[in-house]
Amino acid sequence: MKHTVQKFVLFGATGDLSQRMVWPSLYHLCREKLVPPTLTFVGSARHAMPNEEFRKFVEAALRKHVAAEYLKEDALQDLLTRVTYAPFQAGDGSAAGTEALQKALAGNNKVLYFMATSPKFYGPTCLSLAAAGLACEYCRVILEKPIGTDLASSFEINEAVGRVFNEDRIFRIDHYLGKEAVQNLLALRFANSLFEPLWNASAIDNVQITVGETVGLEGRTGYYDESGALRDMVQNHMLQLVALVAMEPPHLFEPNEVRNEKTKVIRSLRPISAATAAANTVRGQYAAGNSGGNAVPGYNQEPGAKGTSDTETFVAVRAEIDNWRWAGVPFYLRTGKRMQSRRTDIAIQFKTVPHNIFAADEPTLQANRLVIRLQPQESVTLQILSKQPGLEGVRLREVPLELSLPKDESGGRTRIAYERLLLDALKGNTTLFVRRDEVEAAWHWIDGIQTSWKSTRQTVKPYPAGTWGPTAAIALTERHGHSWYE
Ligand code: BG6
Repeated sequence: MKHTVQKFVLFGATGDLSQRMVWPSLYHLCREKLVPPTLTFVGSARHAMPNEEFRKFVEAALRKHVAAEYLKEDALQDLLTRVTYAPFQAGDGSAAGTEALQKALAGNNKVLYFMATSPKFYGPTCLSLAAAGLACEYCRVILEKPIGTDLASSFEINEAVGRVFNEDRIFRIDHYLGKEAVQNLLALRFANSLFEPLWNASAIDNVQITVGETVGLEGRTGYYDESGALRDMVQNHMLQLVALVAMEPPHLFEPNEVRNEKTKVIRSLRPISAATAAANTVRGQYAAGNSGGNAVPGYNQEPGAKGTSDTETFVAVRAEIDNWRWAGVPFYLRTGKRMQSRRTDIAIQFKTVPHNIFAADEPTLQANRLVIRLQPQESVTLQILSKQPGLEGVRLREVPLELSLPKDESGGRTRIAYERLLLDALKGNTTLFVRRDEVEAAWHWIDGIQTSWKSTRQTVKPYPAGTWGPTAAIALTERHGHSWYE
């Protein structure tokens, strides 16, 4: 099904995601000549707008969101000459409201559509495209997360989109899969023989995944209040990381081989029920505090907030994977807004040595730990114990073995995760996109937690902005003799 896409249509072309991520990514792909010069772009949103005005809008977004050192006037003008605008109303899934887009596509049938709109429009938009004859067998569609707000709504969206596009032409984005460090995790696991024999319950004590953000709501109160951290971050990004850490080696690095293995992991997550939710999950919400040296308001005092919301801005979960490889190994997940620092990492905590021969000098030995850091800087570090130089006894200290590429070899600019994903979608490669059964399995597990919270009335615990969440999150690990890696 490889073919060269000729038109890229962006629905929601004036929205926040498009301005911050999609247009800048397209700009870099064009600037670096990674896409053919014949590829053209159609921006689309509900209201009418002349082409010139839209080009000015895209230009302003690029000037704001592309770092000055990469903003080249000739590359900018080249992209803008390839951009046009077509209003589009998906209303009832009929062809009405598609006329401008039909005209802009002018019979072209090699189109990649990107839905950067509210997910409730995905189904109607696809049905309208089909009704207008704009969804031929060569067309593909990219769907931004979230695919729904629970299993039922995600099923409905997948059904509607699936009526128009075959699964191999649907590209569900989870932008974490476009991050270099996430793909490097696959290389680390499956291109080195060193780790695989240890990558299981015999050698690993626990796994911790932290996605800490210092930002608050960033003006997204409406969306966030309906979502919360569990649906916004755990259902997608964090479960993807769990799947990549825990999956079996796929037979090949190919779309269905990789996604089969990831899906098996998500399906093996032990359900969290009303009886186990309180012991295995923590919901938190930031109160007023300090972020980056500035006083910041609490969640309920944010501009536009309802004032009494129980939405969680922090969640910690002790997850377990019920299969042979991972039996008994807890996966601790935590994510939150207004955390102490911006930090995303995966810490693989190995077991301590079975017997300490240095007990006279060092009564406790720190276990080895492999830390894969995604943000703010990518790195892979293996913590080992080493003898401190000296003549007396054996004093030990933790030494980090740096396994990352030296800075000057890592390619300079940190790419936007969307660049890789857009390029793969243009090439028709779905390996780094989420398959329908995978997304539904994730919602199934998340729905279990959400329902349990509701039935047990698990309300949010406050934490001061600028900290690592409620103290209950510390207790979540300590109850089991573990502690969060800081
Ligand atoms: C998005 C969430 O999917 O991911 C945001 O909706 C969150 O709430 C963002 O801030 C985090 O992405 P990153 O790449 O900055 O870790």
